[in-house]
Formats: sequence, C-alpha cells, structure tokens
Amino acid sequence: MGAEPYYGPDFGLLHRRDPEVAQVLLDELDRLRGGLQLIASENFASPAVLAALGSTLNNKYAEGYPGRRYYAGCEVVDRAERLAIDRARRLFGADHVNVQPYSGASANLAAYAALLQPGDTVLAMELSHGGHLTHGSKVNFSGRWFDVVAYGVRRDTELIDYDEVRELALRHQPKMIICGATAYPREIDFAAFRGIADEVGAWLLADVAHTVGLMAGGALPSAVPYADVVTFTTHKALRGPRGGGIMCTRELAARIDRAVFPFVQGGPLMHAVAAKAVAFGEALQPEFADYARQVVANAQVLADALAAEGMRPVSGGTDSHLALIDLRDVGVTGAVAEQRCVAAGITLNRNTIPYDPEPPTVTSGIRVGTPCVTTQGMGTEQMKEVASMVAQVIRNPDAVGEIRARVTALTEIHQIYPSEL
Ligand SMILES: Cc1ncc(COP(=O)(O)O)c(C=O)c1O
Repeated sequence: MGAEPYYGPDFGLLHRRDPEVAQVLLDELDRLRGGLQLIASENFASPAVLAALGSTLNNKYAEGYPGRRYYAGCEVVDRAERLAIDRARRLFGADHVNVQPYSGASANLAAYAALLQPGDTVLAMELSHGGHLTHGSKVNFSGRWFDVVAYGVRRDTELIDYDEVRELALRHQPKMIICGATAYPREIDFAAFRGIADEVGAWLLADVAHTVGLMAGGALPSAVPYADVVTFTTHKALRGPRGGGIMCTRELAARIDRAVFPFVQGGPLMHAVAAKAVAFGEALQPEFADYARQVVANAQVLADALAAEGMRPVSGGTDSHLALIDLRDVGVTGAVAEQRCVAAGITLNRNTIPYDPEPPTVTSGIRVGTPCVTTQGMGTEQMKEVASMVAQVIRNPDAVGEIRARVTALTEIHQIYPSEL
C-alpha cells in the first residue's frame, strides 16, 4: 500500500463526529469481549472482513452482474464480485454461485422465485422441529404464498424420519423439497433427500445457512453434489460478513441470477460482496478446516458435558456446531434459562424442542453453539468449564456472581478483537 492514504474505517473520526453512535459500537465490543457467546448462528468476523465492510465499495451502485451492469463505473467492483464467485466455486466445487443475496432469507426467497409459482406445493421441515421461518411459516412469504407440507423428526429418536419424508412426498407430490434447518443438531442425509426428490420429480433445495462453514471446512458432508439449489449465509460458522449466497447447477444459473436480480433485489451491497470474497479466501486456507473440525469437537464435548450435568441433548448429541438441550428434567423453562445465563454473561437462546409442550415464547429448551468460542481459541477443556457454568447458573440463579467471575476469567485468556495485538 506504500504511503498512499487509505479511506476506510476510522473509529477516531466517528468518535469525534458522532460520539453517541461511537459509544454504541464501544459498548457492543465490551459486551462481546466480556461475555461468552453461545448463539449458534453467530461468529466473530475477522478484522479483514470488517475492513472490507467498512470500505468505499459501500458507495457503488452495480445492478446487474460483472461485465453486464446497468450502471457505469463498475469495472473495479466487478473484480470484487468475480473474486467472491471464483473463491466460492473453488471452496464448494459448485457449478455456479450467486454472491449477491442480502441475507439467508433473501437467498431463499430468490430460490423459491426461480423454481416455483405461487400456490405450488413445497415439502419442508416443521418449524418447531428445527426448520426455518422461510420453510413455510404462516408469518413468512413461504407459508402465505406456497402450500407447505411439513415433515418432522421421530418422537423416539428425534432424527429426521426419511420414511415419513418419502411418504409425504409421494402423497403430496411437491414441486420442491427443502432440507436444511436452523436447530437440528445431526448430519442431514442429502443423498436420501435427492433420492426422494427424484422419485417424485421435485426440485431439491438444500438450505445450509447454518452448516455451510462446516461444509467449507470438510467437517460435514457437502450438499452441493446432491441439491439442485443450495442457499447459505456467510455470517454464521463461515465467519464472514452478514449476507447470503446461492449455489446451483449450470442449468439453473440464469434462472437463479434473474431471481436474485431483478426479481427479488435491487443493487448488490458491493462492500458486503468484497467482504464475502475475503471470507471465502480465509475459508480456503488449511487452518479453516482445523477450525471447522474444532467447532464440531467442541459442540460434542459441550453436549456430553451438559448431559453429564443432567441436561439432555436432543437426539443424544450432535454432529454439528450446535446442540439442542431439553431442560424438562431440570424443571427450568428455556426462557428462564436464557435469562439466568444472560445475567451471568453467557448469551444463548431459548429454543423449542421437538414436540415441545411449552409455547415458542417460553420453550423447554436452549440452543448452544460453538462457532464463536472456537474462534476465540477455546478447545474441549474449556467446553467442560462452559458446560459447568451453564448448568450451575441455570440450576441456581444465586450463583450468578460466581459464574460471572468464571466467565471473565475465561474470556481474559481467550480474547476476541484484542485491544493490543
Ligand atoms: C436454515 C436457515 N435459513 C435461513 C436463515 C435466514 O438467514 P438470515 O437471517 O441471514 O436472513 C437462517 C437464519 O437463522 C437459517 O437458520
């Protein structure tokens, strides 16, 4: 870069111009540094990703695709989008990648738009068993505009019942089947879904918003060889900027691109596209595979250690970055557990468990995830300490002071965004 002045994130300037907003940024950084983040869908993007997000690429309108824009002056930002696409294709071995979706939900809307007409039948996972709002909830476009039939997990094993999926597919003849979830701890058998989709002539959409980072690091099998369309987010285990993406077969490339723009979205967020390129580049490094494997190892130890504390992991454990914990034996609801943990500086979320007797605002469970703590450099030994803290504070709110001190001790050793490098 030499002595060239660079205009990028300048916190000092923000602090002088707008101390109120600057203080929000500082307080959030303090919150992150001072607590444990166990929300399964969050991560800590690298300073390089954050630098791209704070760049002047924010300013550029670039409706269209590289080399085919509706605005002049896109030759520089074209390079960012081409880098993002090339790196994602290398990372996942996909025929075609669209890196413009603003989020996982926008990626899903575009996938529906590319493949379906309103009123078509879709087979997707039940929300209360781990599916996502965009997989057919009545309060979402998916449930309002499509006829959604839901499959769930078995009561005894708490695993996806592939026989049920097949029976429902044969009975309802869906135009599209969705696999992928938001709170399902186990590996998904994409080959089984492919077989069922082929049997009924349905499209297969794999929504790997949660697990794409583990796929990138080889810690879970890839959906790409099986699904017609794969939607994902870039900010969860993948550790990039907030955003989404879509991979698909060569045959569907033009349909997907047209669905993203101009059907669903306007101008792409070019600063986010550049940050996605940075994140894909990071995920291509061999260290990222180590990270992904450690995320899963940590989740497994955390789930086992919580089980040893009398807190039952749904389905008996996890193959991924998250565990769903049934608190009914402890006699504490998910909502109360969430509050008690937050008071001790441990951020996690209450979560419905399959066949939950409690309403979604209360729930019988919590969801814990390890992408953040693994980014902080914690390993399986620390997961035992985390489980012990979570279990103690859930059982005994009077222990909050002691647990908070233990959280501080752990985060002082495993710092994120250290103030001194
Ligand atoms: C399976 C799944 N799909 C889609 C999304 C939506 O992603 P976003 O919040 O980026 O819109 C999520 C987010 O949690 C998810 O878990």
